[in-house]
Amino acid sequence: AAPPILKSTKPPLDAILNMHDFAAAAEATYSPKAWAFYSGAANDCLTHAANLVAWRDILLRPRVLTGVRNVSTKTRVLGADFSVPFFWAPTALARMAHPEGEKAIARGLAARGSSLCLSTNSSFSLQEVVAELPRDYPVMYQLYVNKDRAVTEAHLRGIAKLRPRAIVVTVDLPVVGKREADERIKTDVAIASADNLQQKVEPGKKVGGLARATGGFIDADLRWEDLAWLRGITDIPLFLKGIQSAADARRAYEAGCAGIYLSNHGGRAVDTAQPAIIVLLEIQAQCAWVLERMEVFVDGGVRRGTDVLKAMCLGASAVFLGRPFLYAVGYGQEGVEHAVDLLRDELETAMQMCGITELGQAHPGLVNTALVEGRVMR
Ligand code: FNR
Repeated sequence: AAPPILKSTKPPLDAILNMHDFAAAAEATYSPKAWAFYSGAANDCLTHAANLVAWRDILLRPRVLTGVRNVSTKTRVLGADFSVPFFWAPTALARMAHPEGEKAIARGLAARGSSLCLSTNSSFSLQEVVAELPRDYPVMYQLYVNKDRAVTEAHLRGIAKLRPRAIVVTVDLPVVGKREADERIKTDVAIASADNLQQKVEPGKKVGGLARATGGFIDADLRWEDLAWLRGITDIPLFLKGIQSAADARRAYEAGCAGIYLSNHGGRAVDTAQPAIIVLLEIQAQCAWVLERMEVFVDGGVRRGTDVLKAMCLGASAVFLGRPFLYAVGYGQEGVEHAVDLLRDELETAMQMCGITELGQAHPGLVNTALVEGRVMR
């Protein structure tokens, strides 16, 4: 019999050399709707572009002759040991990329000693995802607070039983961002339907923006005072995701948070918001003590091992990537493992080239921030 005609323009996995290659493969093979939803950002996408550029504007200042043959990227975060300091950021609806979505991503990450922060708007529930992992494997959970606080209270109690290492409350999206690529492509909601979603969309109905169709339940009236309510529901460490100023970093500490996650939602919330790495520099300048007392996570535009190293040098405890894993999972679990391997390899090489062999040796002297100094509030 004649061999089947391969329609896929996806290159073989071993031809994928970096995160950009994964993005190109996803663009060529994902449905136009999935690509628009994943790759899109708010308004003119300036913050998303700035996230990518910010890492390039921070330069490395390598040290030499330190003996770097044996290098390790091991990291301790949230009281757990991982092989790498980078993780999957909470991103909604991974099943649009692959039938096994979040399950495949979780398995791939765990197989490589990394982990994830699962989104409230994931296609599969936390229970379904942890069932794929070794018992008690450390994971985090991202929480959107529902306008109906009773829904969130019941939801969080259920989540707490699964003992994620952190509850990461997203605070940068009181209302859904204006994602025009996502809004332009109308599609049947079946593409996004998942029992796990808190905002159900009518089957058979055509919708534009998936972000609006699935995120309208988020409470725009959440306030600092409400954090006590959340902390009363569970004793699992609370993180705030979407901190974008040194002032709010301090406030999060005063509010008793275990940590903060600097992010502008991958440029999908308010366009022209500053990149997380600038916020990290502002924290360094205004309240460096925060970095000693809380775990500080960073995301947005991280695509290379050098980006990860720069964040660690500037005081981040861990770094997260969103879109790259949504693109890698187009190849299933194997793709995710390959993505971690590539990033870890890049990170190891960058560490060696900079003269360090453990992440504990990363320090601000290894980076030159002159190109972004003018943007940092002191
Ligand atoms: C997101 N992000 C996000 N954040 C969150 O707290 N809850 C969520 O459900 C989602 N959903 C989501 C979907 C998609 C498709 C994207 C791209 C992003 C933001 C995400 O956690 C993270 O902050 C960014 O993705 C980081 O930027 P990069 O790595 O994608 O550039």
